[in-house]
Amino acid sequence: MITEHTTTPSLRMSQPLLPGFTLGRHRIAVPLVLAPMAGITDLPFRRVCRRFGVGLTVTEMIASRAVEQGRERTERMAELDKDESPVAIQIAGAEPKFVIEAARWAEAHGADFVDINMGCPVKKVCKQVAGSAMLRDEALVTRVLTAVVGAVDVPVTLKIRTGWDDKSKNVERIARIAEDCGIQMLTVHGRTRAQMFNGHASWEDIGRAKAAVSIPVIGNGDIIDGASAREMIRVSGCDGVMVGRAVQGNPWVLAEVHAAIMNEAQPSAPTPAERWAVVHEHMQHLLAHHGVRTASKLARKHIPWYSKGLHGSAEFRSSFQRHADWREQMQVAEVYFTALEPDAEADGPAGADMIRAA
Ligand SMILES: Cc1cc2nc3c(=O)[nH]c(=O)nc-3n(C[C@H](O)[C@H](O)[C@H](O)COP(=O)(O)O)c2cc1C
Repeated sequence: MITEHTTTPSLRMSQPLLPGFTLGRHRIAVPLVLAPMAGITDLPFRRVCRRFGVGLTVTEMIASRAVEQGRERTERMAELDKDESPVAIQIAGAEPKFVIEAARWAEAHGADFVDINMGCPVKKVCKQVAGSAMLRDEALVTRVLTAVVGAVDVPVTLKIRTGWDDKSKNVERIARIAEDCGIQMLTVHGRTRAQMFNGHASWEDIGRAKAAVSIPVIGNGDIIDGASAREMIRVSGCDGVMVGRAVQGNPWVLAEVHAAIMNEAQPSAPTPAERWAVVHEHMQHLLAHHGVRTASKLARKHIPWYSKGLHGSAEFRSSFQRHADWREQMQVAEVYFTALEPDAEADGPAGADMIRAA
């Protein structure tokens, strides 16, 4: 049976720009994916983002060795919301034995899909020849993908960069290997590992992967609004889009991208009251999920992001960072956000800001 997932409805003007696709028993009607971001897209933030029209969520990356060690923190990272579906749990690792174990663990934790990370550029991860370092060893890619696809019943998906560096770009070959190994959806961040987050993502390279395979390809990298999502789709021909940094402090950008890909009227910007309601809700979810210590640490990251581009943001951010106590943090934030005038944007959209800041 195929499960149809619908998201926030709004005024439909014509046919969607993207028709969606089927993944296992799930119909991805809105091919808008929230990017996995370590330390950011935990359960509380995914819950907030889903309200803005995301069609698929992915957990933060979970190292297969961490699964083996069975830490409590790892369990919390794999926790899914009661009604969070479709959702992928993302795992990483280069040793088939451990990756298989992690994939089975993810399936047992309720993942609709197991996503394998071969895009992480972080040195610590690459040193263990995992993340994007694996792209340099195509035989290893084949071994790991074959092992995982054979180990679980749910569809296995893959997230990659376009290669290790400019000279050794192999996005088309990796895409073909993935399809041959039974991967059912491929996400391409249009940068090499060497680029880290510099320059602009190559949406043309995403298009090369798309042309090489018949499985759905999700384009990722530098979407900051509805217009950039449309342009990525036009340039690459991708089947879906994934949004990452632009969502930090600005989940409303997802409603914009949703409207763009569904050919619907653009939503209006949030009023100050709506903005505070979302910030407050996010903070309550953080507190309930992580406890006060971690929630307080995470608030120091999220709350300043929510203020980016708004009047008095710089002063607010520096005063906010002086508070470490949860109650004080919430009071200071409430005073700032509820005193904002409508149309309080000072420096342009927060999404563009975040891309520059990352
Ligand atoms: C702070 C941060 C953490 C990230 N963590 C992950 C991760 O756990 N797994 C993953 O596949 N990609 C991770 N990424 C990469 C994003 O998923 C995405 O590919 C990248 O940010 C490009 O998309 P964007 O331009 O929309 O941000 C991370 C990116 C950032 C900025």
